Amino acid sequence: VQNKPVTIAVDGPAASGKGTLSRNLAKELRLAHLDTGALYRAVGYKTLQAGVPFDDEARIEQLAQSIEASDLASPELRSEATGAAASKVSTLMRVRAAVGEFPKQFAENPPPGSSGAVLDGRDVGTVLLPNATLKLFITASDEVRAQRRLDELKSRGGNLEGVTFEKVLQDMRERDRRDRERAAAPLKAADDAVIIDTSNMNEAQVMDASIAEVKRACPWL
Ligand code: DC
Repeated sequence: VQNKPVTIAVDGPAASGKGTLSRNLAKELRLAHLDTGALYRAVGYKTLQAGVPFDDEARIEQLAQSIEASDLASPELRSEATGAAASKVSTLMRVRAAVGEFPKQFAENPPPGSSGAVLDGRDVGTVLLPNATLKLFITASDEVRAQRRLDELKSRGGNLEGVTFEKVLQDMRERDRRDRERAAAPLKAADDAVIIDTSNMNEAQVMDASIAEVKRACPWL
């Protein structure tokens, strides 16, 4: 009998497909899903809106402490500007401390009716849930990820002035570098993570490969 909730950690760089995979896994396995990046995006968006400089750690910590569930639903959270702001505020130690408790609580006490949770982000397998039942690290080449991000921006409509493949690629590399090189909980695969390179895979293939890992790690699910 499994008493402890199942936890699946899905980490990876921007536009790797980890968000889509996590939603698909949660649905298929009837687990709850938490996009931990949305928490940092909410803090980044508040910081932009309030015009707080990115090095004002004390004020950004206050903004992080004021985040509520309703802040996570804004469509503005998905913009490139908010993504870049999220990457900047997430380098701040006190912001990570303020945000980090929520995902841990969520994973330990998943909503009623779910036997566990899928969490996606940058540091789920390394910092938030070091004892996760299964850790996946989803990646793809820079070029493939930039093209996916461009397609996503196009499909969402909105203003695409000045948005080119080269610009998206450059912005994404800058964000990845910041996420990988920061001192606090940098983006990296946990030693015990299964690495899936999705460069030559479609959504269904990524799902199939991940389900195979789930069956191996938690055959009772
Ligand atoms: O996954 P995303 O693009 O929504 O994440 C936005 C930013 O938030 C990302 O560039 C770094 C930060 N982040 C983080 O530091 N830790 C996480 N667990 C998730 C996201």
